[in-house]
Amino acid sequence: MLRGRELHPLPSAYEADEQLLLFPAIQAFISTRILVVQPIFVKEYFNSVLLLNMNLKELQRKAFEEAENIEKKEHLESFRIKYLGRKGELTNILRSLKDLPVDERKSVGVDANKLKIELEQIVAFKEKEIGSLGEESVIDITRPGKKVNLGHLHPLTKIEEEIRNIFTSLNFSVVEGPELETEYFNFDALNIPASHPARDMWDTFWLKEGGKAKERRLMRTHTSPVQIRFMETHKPPFQIIVPGRVFRYEATDASHEINFYQLEGLMVGQNISLANFKFIVETFFKKLFGKNIEFRFRPSYFPFTEPSVEVDIKFPTKGRGDWLEVLGAGMVHPRVFESAHLNPRDIQGFAFGVGIDRLAMIKYKIPDIRLFYSGDLRFINQF
Ligand code: PHE
Repeated sequence: MLRGRELHPLPSAYEADEQLLLFPAIQAFISTRILVVQPIFVKEYFNSVLLLNMNLKELQRKAFEEAENIEKKEHLESFRIKYLGRKGELTNILRSLKDLPVDERKSVGVDANKLKIELEQIVAFKEKEIGSLGEESVIDITRPGKKVNLGHLHPLTKIEEEIRNIFTSLNFSVVEGPELETEYFNFDALNIPASHPARDMWDTFWLKEGGKAKERRLMRTHTSPVQIRFMETHKPPFQIIVPGRVFRYEATDASHEINFYQLEGLMVGQNISLANFKFIVETFFKKLFGKNIEFRFRPSYFPFTEPSVEVDIKFPTKGRGDWLEVLGAGMVHPRVFESAHLNPRDIQGFAFGVGIDRLAMIKYKIPDIRLFYSGDLRFINQF
């Protein structure tokens, strides 16, 4: 029989529905409204809760099954509308929750909202799946591609590479040294003592160093210090080139920069002579500039070579040609061998230093060395 707070005895018409009234929610519901509700209403109410629960389960099964077979965007959209749309099946259930009493609303509500989240996740997942499948068909593979701008080597790098190739084809090895040098390697070991006026040939960037520094350091003014570094650790015969950046503290103009690139050459053996030097230099220039290149040798002076020469190349300006000094060279000075702990009585050889920038200016007809370092793309992109 019926129990409950202030529950009035029911008319016999309710007898058959006795069991359903055991639901606490319905009891509570009836306890407040029993006097006004009709028997038929109670039945409907009960059915709707039960139905909602059953519907949810069925809905879930149905939706999951359908979702499995979704392959196209349109299918997914109608699936979404069918369940989650404004008049969708699940939306309807969610909307009807408000008509339920609190307890039922809670239990059905939790399940219905859980299902809603599940379906939303399914839709999102399927959207991605279909998206990635569909991409192929969206791309028009016959369209011309976007041009990728890869950039290119700087003209100085290009010519250096070319120079390396020429010399390695002549059996030279490529060696490099530090840009930050000690006073010893840059000057003293090359027969330029502190008092020597030849130090004035190079305007030098010295490092500001505290009193603790053992030796003064500088940005190397030429690549010649690598001669010493290499000979200290290698036995002749050998032939090397040393490409690298050098620094000079001087005013800039069309043919001078505060930093530029040099290529040192050094060939040492038992009887390497200036004749070998001439052959190597001529071969090098002809390979780099073509057979018709004009150049001349002049006597010169360097503290670390004896005798010394300089080589000029004719710069192809309009009408007349200007001679441009590109290379200093000579037979390695005996003192230089001694600095490197080699005996000048056993060996001899030549050394040269050539300005890479100047070679590039001649080869590419560039009138001003400063353009190399300007970072101006209108210039750089021409190479
Ligand atoms: N180091 C010299 C310079 O920078 C060039 C040079 C190198 C001359 C080797 C002779 C031998 O001017």
